[in-house]
Amino acid sequence: KTQVIKIDKNNPEIDKIQLAAEIIKKGGVVAFPTETVYGLGANALDEKATQKIFIAKGRPQDNPLIVHIGDISDLDSLVKEVPENAKELMKRFWPGPLTLIFKKREIVPDRITGGLSTVAIRMPNHKIAIELIRQSGLPIAAPSANTSGKPSPTNSHHVIEDLYGKIDMIIDGGDTGVGVESTVLDISTDIPTILRPGFVTLEDLLEIFPRVDIDPAIQNLSEKMKPKSPGQKYRHYSPKAKLTIIQGEVGNIVEKLMSLASKYKKQGLKVGIMATKQTKNKYIIGNVLEVGDRENPQTIAANLFRVLREFDKIGVDIILAEGIEEKGIGRAIMNRMKKAAGGDVILVDRKK
Ligand code: TXA
Ligand code: MG
Repeated sequence: KTQVIKIDKNNPEIDKIQLAAEIIKKGGVVAFPTETVYGLGANALDEKATQKIFIAKGRPQDNPLIVHIGDISDLDSLVKEVPENAKELMKRFWPGPLTLIFKKREIVPDRITGGLSTVAIRMPNHKIAIELIRQSGLPIAAPSANTSGKPSPTNSHHVIEDLYGKIDMIIDGGDTGVGVESTVLDISTDIPTILRPGFVTLEDLLEIFPRVDIDPAIQNLSEKMKPKSPGQKYRHYSPKAKLTIIQGEVGNIVEKLMSLASKYKKQGLKVGIMATKQTKNKYIIGNVLEVGDRENPQTIAANLFRVLREFDKIGVDIILAEGIEEKGIGRAIMNRMKKAAGGDVILVDRKK
């Protein structure tokens, strides 16, 4: 039922892209790679087509979708106005992993925006994604191509695991690269506000604006505040096993993690340890997986969701994960990890 086709991400075969574009034009649903994660795409202007996305993912109806465009000129038909600061951002970061929130035009169905008066738009930096949008001649609504609640897919195998049999086509374009989803930035207010941290960092944005806020609700672990980005309120990126993050100075992390691992092992639990290049050889018990290099946190972003899925395959009962510093791309990584952990974070540094 689901067609899987391999396409070369460096040099997409146009005949294959056209097959996928035909499906989109006819109201079908296609999973495709972007530079962040795989997306599950349908014609953004067709309510019935986009409804299929919600059904395939099991996604809550009030969680709005990002509309993907293939050219900046596609914006005008979708949004009421393009503020000056948006132009600056688009020039610098599009195509790329930055999603901007605009006031929407009537033509954008309420189904996509979860009833909001705004619409999220991004232009992906990926040849397959861009060609698919251009060949279909339509804006493409696409959330990440995972079952709702699971880690986002960073290769086609993850998409097949979650959605095979539920959608029309899966494009296999290899690994995605960035590994965490785009930064979502609200520019409809006076002070640009990050609704979801991503590859485009706070530091990057502060090079353009004197002040940038982060939606306080996304850092509030008590979950009493209502995030502006509806998707941030759901439990997300969750492996089957319980995940605990140990955060602080590396030496302290390793010490605490070891003592927890041996405690759980004595209780008869199968323990997974999410370690880094610098620490992986220090652990002598548990199933140790390396997520990346602390000196180069981009590698951690690229591997995070894959490693979470691997722990599920191994079938561990509990995952103990090393935290990293919350700066730069580290903010996006820790945001995803904390959501996967349901806020279960142990801080190990002694208060000074
Ligand atoms: O990198 C990405 O952004 C990937 C690839 C496929 O492009 N897409 C993605 O989509 O992550 P999704 O649906 O998994 O996440 C979209 C996020 C959700 O948190 C949603 O609540 C938020 O964007 N969002 C969408 N429209 C919004 C709006 N009008 N206002 C505020 N937040 C919005
Ligand atoms: Mg998602």
